[in-house]
Amino acid sequence: MSELTVPVIAVDGPGGAGKGTITQMLARELGWHLLDSGALYRLTALAATRKGVSLDDEAGLVAVAASLDVAFEPGVEGEPVRVLLDGADVTREIRTESCGNNASLVAVMQPVRDALLQRQRDFQKSPGLVADGRDMGTVVFPEAPVKIFLTASAEERARRRFNQLKDAGADVTMQDLLDEIRARDERDMNRAAAPLKPADDAQVIDSTGLSIKEVFDRCMAVAGQA
Ligand code: DC
Repeated sequence: MSELTVPVIAVDGPGGAGKGTITQMLARELGWHLLDSGALYRLTALAATRKGVSLDDEAGLVAVAASLDVAFEPGVEGEPVRVLLDGADVTREIRTESCGNNASLVAVMQPVRDALLQRQRDFQKSPGLVADGRDMGTVVFPEAPVKIFLTASAEERARRRFNQLKDAGADVTMQDLLDEIRARDERDMNRAAAPLKPADDAQVIDSTGLSIKEVFDRCMAVAGQA
């Protein structure tokens, strides 16, 4: 069991529910630190691919996860956090669909999760931490005083992703994205190691049909109740 050293707001939920945007807004509003735990799984997958470590080589992946050389540099107002791997900017590279899928594959392995656990807990720094992931409230910070499970229908999440990718000029179909989202949900929710599920004491917020501002306000209200 971990001891909290600073207050933590744990925000969990499936991919595409808006956690990234909301946790960045919360961290900025509160002046707290931010942990994007999904980025660590994405970076593990990317570093493994670059080093020629196969995504089913558990021992190899553990070694990659344990020795990740990463840095998160806060973006200027409105810009995403810059993510560096071995000193090079991989902010865009880790956001691709294939990197997300590979991250989901490496994340099923308990030893890989164990290798990333302390690194995640080390993000606790004064005055507080907003933590974004799948198991923030259940495994990494079970003592967090504020736990939010942010979800949205698979169709809505596919639609949001489709609009993002279309704006970036990518050639994808809604159906492909929906299929990928469902497959990833299935894997994240049904794995033995830290499956995606709301903590017993989490407040569930369904962002389907809500604006970002509405979701943010609800999250701030939950944080204020604690
Ligand atoms: O949130 P994301 O899409 O960046 O996460 C990528 C993958 O990493 C996701 O499919 C599941 C995994 N993940 C996890 O298992 N545990 C976390 N705390 C965060 C992400």
